[in-house]
Amino acid sequence: VSTTAIPGYAFGAVSRSPVTLEELELLKQAAGWTPDDDALLRRAGELLVPRSEEILDVWYGFVGGTPQLLEAFRRRSDGEPDADYLARVRARFGRWIADTCATPWGQEWLDYQHEIGVRHHRSGKNRTDGVDAAPVVPLRYLVALAWPVTATVRPFLEAGGDSPAEVERLLDAWRKAVLVQVALWCRPYVAAEDF
Ligand code: HEM
Repeated sequence: VSTTAIPGYAFGAVSRSPVTLEELELLKQAAGWTPDDDALLRRAGELLVPRSEEILDVWYGFVGGTPQLLEAFRRRSDGEPDADYLARVRARFGRWIADTCATPWGQEWLDYQHEIGVRHHRSGKNRTDGVDAAPVVPLRYLVALAWPVTATVRPFLEAGGDSPAEVERLLDAWRKAVLVQVALWCRPYVAAEDF
């Protein structure tokens, strides 16, 4: 996926995360990160990135079929889902799969995680695409979507011919990666001292 072709994708061009790399390391440890997880995520990326469009079809099917989630994409003016907004976010979401699997994560990755959190929060939602949709993605849904975003990749990880035990390890690495990111995205939602 060419990064310049994705409207609003700003990896490498956002301000510094308030979370430090040292804090990221502690967070990964708290999620049970092991030294193998970086390589497992790169392997997961070999399987997931080429099939990003199919994965996005599954995720968008879920969001579109779950009214309280689709709410986030509805225009405030007429209450209709904003198709352009959905399409633009979808392209960045696809790129996110690749970024998640491009380990080890560094400072630019950490910075962009904060930006993604801000983009779900009322301090930055809608800004990137210049839309007038719902003002915030509720924090509770941000957390809960971690399960669908994890469970749905299983068949894609299974399709590479890895042993069942290896598939479990790939899925565990992906699960930890999603959890760590959702935890980072909570930062704009809570008081700094409570994060
Ligand atoms: C584990 C949970 C989630 C993941 C992995 C995820 C992932 C993403 C990614 C990668 C982006 C694009 C970031 C960028 O601009 O580069 C995004 C944006 C967005 N997501 Fe999520 N998301 C999650 C939860 C949710 C939930 C629960 C909702 C809605 C109910 C939601 C609605 C949105 C919206 C509306 C945007 C666009 C925000 C903007 O205006 O810039 N997301 N999400």
